[in-house]
Amino acid sequence: VERTLVLVKPDGVRRGLSGEVLRRIEAKGYTLAAVELVQATPELLERHYAEHVDKPFFRALVDFMLSGPTLAVVAEGNRVIEGFRSLAGATDPTTAAPGTIRGDLGRAWDGPVMQNIVHGSDSPESASREIGLWFPAL
Ligand code: GTP
Ligand code: MG
Repeated sequence: VERTLVLVKPDGVRRGLSGEVLRRIEAKGYTLAAVELVQATPELLERHYAEHVDKPFFRALVDFMLSGPTLAVVAEGNRVIEGFRSLAGATDPTTAAPGTIRGDLGRAWDGPVMQNIVHGSDSPESASREIGLWFPAL
C-alpha cells in the first residue's frame, strides 16, 4: 500500500489540533503507521524544503518550522498521497475550501509566514524521500 508523510506543523501543534488532524486521517479510512513529536533542526528543514531554498519566504518558513514541535505522521492506504492532499485543501488557508483541514481550521495570520497547519507529501518520490528524513528508522 501507499504511504505519505504528514506533518502537523508548529502552528497546528500549538493550537491543539494534532488530535483533530489524526482524527480526520483515520475517519477517512487511512491507517497510522508511525507518529512522533519532533523538534525539527535547520539541517532537517533545509533537506525537507530543498525545493524552496531559493524562494523569498524560505528563511521565514524555516524559522516558523523551528518555532515549536512538529507532529510527524506516516499515513498508509490506497492513494493516500493524493487523498491526504485533498483532505488538507489548498496551500493558502484563507481560500482553502471549507471541509478541508486548512479551510476549516486555518486563516491568515499577522506576520510574514503562511501558517497552514499541515504538510502532505506531493508525490511517491517526495513521500519516500520525506519519510526517510523524518523517520530514518522506518
Ligand atoms: P506543503 O504540504 O506544506 O508542502 O504545502 P504545499 O505543497 O501546499 O505548498 P508548497 O510546497 O508550495 O509550499 C510549502 C510551504 O511553504 C507551504 O505549506 C507554506 O507553509 C509555505 N509557503 C508556500 N508558498 C508561500 C508563500 O507564497 N508565502 C509564504 N510566506 N509561505 C509560503
Ligand atoms: Mg509542498
